[in-house]
Amino acid sequence: MLKIPGLIDAHVHLRIPGGIHKEDFRSGTAAALAGGFTMLMAMPNTLPALNMAKIWQDTQSQAEREGLCDVTHFAGVNFDDLNHLRTLGKLAPAVKVYLDETFNQSAVFDHTILDQIVAAWPSYKVISFHAEGEKIASAIALAARYKRPIHICHVSRKEDIERIASAKAAGLPITCEVTPHHLFLTRADADRLGALGDMRPRLAEQRDVDALWAHLGTTIDIIASDHAPHTLQEKNDPVSSPPGVPGLESTLPLMLTAVSQKRLKMQRLLELLYTNPARIYGLAHQPDTFLEIDPCARYTFPEYPLHTKCGWSPFSSMQMVGRLIRVVLRGRTVYVDGLLTDPKE
Ligand code: NCD
Ligand code: ZN
Repeated sequence: MLKIPGLIDAHVHLRIPGGIHKEDFRSGTAAALAGGFTMLMAMPNTLPALNMAKIWQDTQSQAEREGLCDVTHFAGVNFDDLNHLRTLGKLAPAVKVYLDETFNQSAVFDHTILDQIVAAWPSYKVISFHAEGEKIASAIALAARYKRPIHICHVSRKEDIERIASAKAAGLPITCEVTPHHLFLTRADADRLGALGDMRPRLAEQRDVDALWAHLGTTIDIIASDHAPHTLQEKNDPVSSPPGVPGLESTLPLMLTAVSQKRLKMQRLLELLYTNPARIYGLAHQPDTFLEIDPCARYTFPEYPLHTKCGWSPFSSMQMVGRLIRVVLRGRTVYVDGLLTDPKE
């Protein structure tokens, strides 16, 4: 039996406001606990977006009332009035900027807008980017020009991780994350999974997956799930299938499996899923909060019914090694052997 800290998922979509048929604070944080996460950082591409102080605060208060674990929210950018970032900068741990189109979100193309975002956001707080391919160069250029911390979300390709490695080697204040789906799945899986294997960035080739694993001990700072729940009905719609896959409940099993296969050391797993996200985003320590793990248990995923409201996983029927047994949050057992012990009931 192994005792480790409660983990941090620094990139999830909990769909409040506007998407509670996909996920809500209760189902999303239940999935978090079942996956060993006691702190979540939720994205602002909601409806409406979390890009004004009032909506951010209302959503944050609701998460504190309804959530079963700690949740904080990224700030979003309000293109009608970038000054909202000044008040949001006092509230949110980081701002999310999209340089590519994705679900519910248009991209920033204009460099003068990027400069204005930088000017309005506190210089000591991170700006996190959805940036793919050449867009990563724009994000790196900002870090170089303004000497301020930036984070690149869900890196998926060899050229992209190598570009980030060079920028880090040059001393720029850049951090980055990868998702388990980009570490464990390729374009061949996307063909097999159909809509259930579609997300942004898209699954890549084996050479890209190999490059991500090669950089896991060095360049990569964070593993985050990019938990992006959509219903099966929405995913299977031939016309409007949205990109995104759930990941809160599969991330720890996958990474423990990698540890059992000696592709990753336990110490490094903890840096990627706890120490680094806490440091990069300046998150508060959760006292008396820990997980108990059986690193040798073997099972077919999912071992227990999923807690995410969307109810499916691209990793269904995978063989996993390593099981979460218990979650203790601030001294209380909140999850044990597949069951939530709800303190808010
Ligand atoms: C995300 C979503 O569904 O909100 N989808 C995705 O494919 N990752 C949006 C995002 O993070 O890009
Ligand atoms: Zn995302």
